[in-house]
Amino acid sequence: MAAMKHDCFARGRGDHGLMTIADSLPRLLAVSDLHVGMRDNRRLVEALRPSSEGDWLIVAGDVAELADDVAWGLRRLTERFARVIWTPGNHELWTHPEDRVQLRGVARYEYLVDLCRSLRVSTPEDPYLRWDGRGGPAVIAPVFSLYDYSFRPSGMTRQESLVWARAAGIVCTDEFLLDPAPYPGVEEWCAARVEVTERRLAALDADVPLILAGHWPLVREPTEVLWHPEFAQWCGTTRTADWHSRFRAAAVVYGHLHIPRTTWQDGVRFEEVSIGYPREWQARGHPRGHLRQILPFSHEHGMAAVHAPETSGIA
Ligand SMILES: [Fe+2]
Ligand SMILES: [Fe+2]
Repeated sequence: MAAMKHDCFARGRGDHGLMTIADSLPRLLAVSDLHVGMRDNRRLVEALRPSSEGDWLIVAGDVAELADDVAWGLRRLTERFARVIWTPGNHELWTHPEDRVQLRGVARYEYLVDLCRSLRVSTPEDPYLRWDGRGGPAVIAPVFSLYDYSFRPSGMTRQESLVWARAAGIVCTDEFLLDPAPYPGVEEWCAARVEVTERRLAALDADVPLILAGHWPLVREPTEVLWHPEFAQWCGTTRTADWHSRFRAAAVVYGHLHIPRTTWQDGVRFEEVSIGYPREWQARGHPRGHLRQILPFSHEHGMAAVHAPETSGIA
């Protein structure tokens, strides 16, 4: 990167000092957990800007709880970024008592997909987009895989792990607000999502690198640093544990944990790209910036950083 700065004509000052032609070329960026229902986060989103007119942005869930707030956040982003790609988080899927949209479960998800399409935002239900900019080509697959409590400690039944979480006072709000209808439980919805997504991923051209982007981590290792290990059971499914290898991912994007960092799993880069709650980011800041660069990959942007030791327990 330093060599590039010498090679390129300086055009102005950016976040990292001199802005170069390379810096102003389109990038594939990612963010998650905007939580724009919170005033300080809404201000932060108001201030988000691409560095190039051609930048694409992956939004990996938890834009907000209320449908109108989700629409507000995504609309702001579509006004600024050339493409916006969304996948739901648990907060979008809540049926919040204050929301004018009282749809539940799959019907709520389908409402959100329609909302996204009206804003020209790509969803897990749309054809996967192909990034042909710098660092490409790559297919971008927004995935909605949910969770099934299988990240609970081994040897514990689902019921025992819930009792364990309740005793610690760490129960995800999903238990009260995320309705899996018409499925009998989140486990069944998760199984259906995994099955349909696997079929699509298996049909992709194996020669084009893949960017997998979901709200919940596809592997359980990122949950090992949770301050409250009881929360891990709401954070993913073991059914996706081999997706990054099996589908030859060039990078995996996720959020939900509110622990922004870069890790590596079987040689694949995993990027936790969350903004998080004001009480979290106002304490630690966003030393890596608000938007994570996925492509082109550079070690400058991919270095492991910010290992926050704590999550809220309700992500
Ligand atoms: Fe979340
Ligand atoms: Fe979140």
